Amino acid sequence: MPNHRVLVLYAHPAPHRSRINRRLAEAARALDGVLVHDLYETYPDFYIDVPREQALLEQAELVVFLHPIRWYSMPSLMKEWTDSVLEPGWAYGPGATALRGKGYWLAVTTGSPEDAYQAGERHGRPFEAYLPPFEQTALLCGMHWWPPHILHGANGADQAAIEAHVAAFRARLEAFLLTPPKRHADGTANGK
Ligand SMILES: Cc1cc2nc3c(=O)[nH]c(=O)nc-3n(C[C@H](O)[C@H](O)[C@H](O)COP(=O)(O)O)c2cc1C
Repeated sequence: MPNHRVLVLYAHPAPHRSRINRRLAEAARALDGVLVHDLYETYPDFYIDVPREQALLEQAELVVFLHPIRWYSMPSLMKEWTDSVLEPGWAYGPGATALRGKGYWLAVTTGSPEDAYQAGERHGRPFEAYLPPFEQTALLCGMHWWPPHILHGANGADQAAIEAHVAAFRARLEAFLLTPPKRHADGTANGK
């Protein structure tokens, strides 16, 4: 089992066409203490190894959900992962403590620019109006909801905007990795 403090769940259905998410995954992969877990690469048949996923989650203090927005939500494999891995009695419900206290960081991109997300425009409401299912999933599991890292207008983003977005992502992860590791119940810490 790798000694990671941060687990990045990377879900891109067409990674070879990605301009932004692939760059974010690469930036995270370069950091010690971060495990980038490419779900589409690992599970092309959508058959999720639940015990393995739960073990990876237990090891992490911060879980990053990295993916493009698809139909106002997550890509289908990310949804399948959520449906399969976040089991009652383990992730939520009476006696469930596996995810309690871990950070939940949503890192997403939209094709449309931010101004398309408002009343009277193409998407009808602010982008934040589409986030409650994500946030409530985190809260139901006892996780801390981090302010999401969002790049709107991803398809038209210029190189400077992409670089700034990647740099901010890396800097936030680096800042987290500088904090003291949390202890596990048995007194050990990741990497110790
Ligand atoms: C099937 C599909 C659904 C999409 N749904 C949305 C959407 O609901 N809102 C949006 O702003 N962009 C949507 N997009 C655009 C993607 O979010 C965008 O291409 C992606 O964020 C770009 O990131 P990348 O360069 O890493 O691929 C959709 C794209 C596809 C192919």
